[in-house]
Amino acid sequence: MCSLWRGSLLTLTSSLNRRVFQCCRQFGRSYNIASCMPEAVAFQGVSDHSGLYKFSVNESDRFWGAVARQRLSWISPFHTVQNCDFSQGKIKWFEGGKLNVSVNCLDRHVHTCPERVALIWERDEPGTEVKITYRQLLELTCRLGNLLKRQGVRRGDCVTIYMPPCPLAVASMLACARIGAAHNVVFAGFSSEALADRIRDAQSSTVITVNQGVRGGKVVDLKRTVDQAVQNCPSVQQVLVAMRTENTVAMTDRDVPLEEEMMKEDVVCEPVAMDSEDVLFLLYTSGSTGKPKGLVHTQAGYLLYTSLTHRYVFNYHDGDVFGCVADIGWITGHSYIVYGALCNGGTTVLFESTPVYPNPGRYWEMVERLEINQFYGAPTAIRLLLKYGDEWVQNYNRSSLKTLGSVGEPINTEAWEWYHRVVGDGRCPVVDTWWQTETGGICIAPRPADPEAEIVPGMAMRPFYGIKPALLDTEGGGGGALCISQAWPGMARTIHNHHQRFTETYFQPYPGFFFTGDGAHRSKEGYYQIVGRLDDVINVSGHRLGTAELEDVVNQCPAVAESAAIGYSHDIKGEGECLPKTRSGKIMRRVLRKVVERNTDELGDLSTLDDPDSVHEVIRGHRRLRGDGKQQ
Ligand code: WTA
Repeated sequence: MCSLWRGSLLTLTSSLNRRVFQCCRQFGRSYNIASCMPEAVAFQGVSDHSGLYKFSVNESDRFWGAVARQRLSWISPFHTVQNCDFSQGKIKWFEGGKLNVSVNCLDRHVHTCPERVALIWERDEPGTEVKITYRQLLELTCRLGNLLKRQGVRRGDCVTIYMPPCPLAVASMLACARIGAAHNVVFAGFSSEALADRIRDAQSSTVITVNQGVRGGKVVDLKRTVDQAVQNCPSVQQVLVAMRTENTVAMTDRDVPLEEEMMKEDVVCEPVAMDSEDVLFLLYTSGSTGKPKGLVHTQAGYLLYTSLTHRYVFNYHDGDVFGCVADIGWITGHSYIVYGALCNGGTTVLFESTPVYPNPGRYWEMVERLEINQFYGAPTAIRLLLKYGDEWVQNYNRSSLKTLGSVGEPINTEAWEWYHRVVGDGRCPVVDTWWQTETGGICIAPRPADPEAEIVPGMAMRPFYGIKPALLDTEGGGGGALCISQAWPGMARTIHNHHQRFTETYFQPYPGFFFTGDGAHRSKEGYYQIVGRLDDVINVSGHRLGTAELEDVVNQCPAVAESAAIGYSHDIKGEGECLPKTRSGKIMRRVLRKVVERNTDELGDLSTLDDPDSVHEVIRGHRRLRGDGKQQ
């Protein structure tokens, strides 16, 4: 094993030494293509960023084949770069190849720099961060891998993880990868019902959690939520419980004290050789109808795509501290806190707190204390913080910052400008990164690009290497349904147990294309601007909620006969959720949008509604809610 991945590191270094400097002159200065990407020196005719981009989409096999050989450590090499057919929803990358994701994220860095910090756990209590080196993280992962095996977890099983961001959560994910199990991380803010749904759908026999979480100074009884959830999950055999706080919680026969048991395990755990297309994880996300879907990501392609985007979108270099403040329960946490960052040997922050705890200076105090180089956050938090004023930012030294990132929803110009001017002192590129749980990693972002290429506020702008966007059903003005016209290694492979839903949702609306569900515009320069969802998915604070899920909850209330949920524009959250009482899906939602936009003269045809009178009730209710009832 060892000599194999050492071999591939050697190949990488020798290719760096071999690099031929192909120079180009642009923007008044020259740069060599190897500074874009070392592999590019071998791509004939490629001398600048746009040449490299064109090569990546036109010669996709050669591009991804070279990058995969250079950047991943393989146990056995792949024989086929890609084998994809959108009409069947078939997506396979690097077939024939075998590798272990945890070896790529840990062992190879332990061999070169064991004492480098892998994780900085920024705990809720400011100033109490914990640093974990690559050597320590490998040790935790191996002990946990052995413990999972002892508990009967086998290759192909799926372990549910319900934990806040913490080193043991990362070690749990990597331990699954090490022994060939898949993981299903459920955001530790979801209710016991939502958790139970996901455990059942994933058929997990093992759940990993903590006794309690701590967030914004408040203690949250996560183990209790798990207890409630597993009552309705017959598949669950054991619950491993880590201790985040000192408080004891009731333990049953099913529960296993995690730290105590893992200390009994060996620090060596043989990594399993996984096929490129074996499942790495499931991650549930809201769709426009029905239950949340368990999107499936696999090993090699996902790892390659997240590490490449992490390196080039954020311009991450060895030794940088990468601060992504998302939760590990979302795809952003999976791809950029864990897999992309660790595959690159990065130092990555695990943020347990909130943007306003203990005060609205939290992020920037943390940036100063941890000397964060890349900060990656959500527009909703930026909008919230800008309302508190510049002083909270200016109180802290942010000179370590090099790149600022935004994700999850469109970032409005005011928030973008503030982020750039105040947080970044006008000297850091702001990268508005567009992507989805389904895409695995960033697909459209202002970087990488030619050095000093312009960045337009509030625009994701440029497709990443290998991404070929297309706008379909275009109306005048260049807008349309955002699709991607060829496969890339990071894309989801299926919906767990529902391949048909996968093809219907993503490949049937526009045959030959992957349909994102978002609308976008393309400017005359060719830059993309994302407009938002075209379907019934609501984006509240950067988190996806399906209208059907919200309605399910409201309908459980005995006083409600039927309901329709819509999003309305909200200053901070992007969209709020609006849940009035009445019936009938799409049409009712159209009506509700008019009501919240105060266009009650344009309600359109209400005849298909069961009870058109209810609309007037809704209008009155909405006026009361907005506080303008008295004026009527
Ligand atoms: C939205 C989050 C505009 C979009 C990584 C997408 C964005 C959905 C942006 C995916 C952005 C994400 N600009 N909209 N930069 N980034 N979105 O699966 O509607 O939680 O389809 O993945 O968020 O949300 P998800």
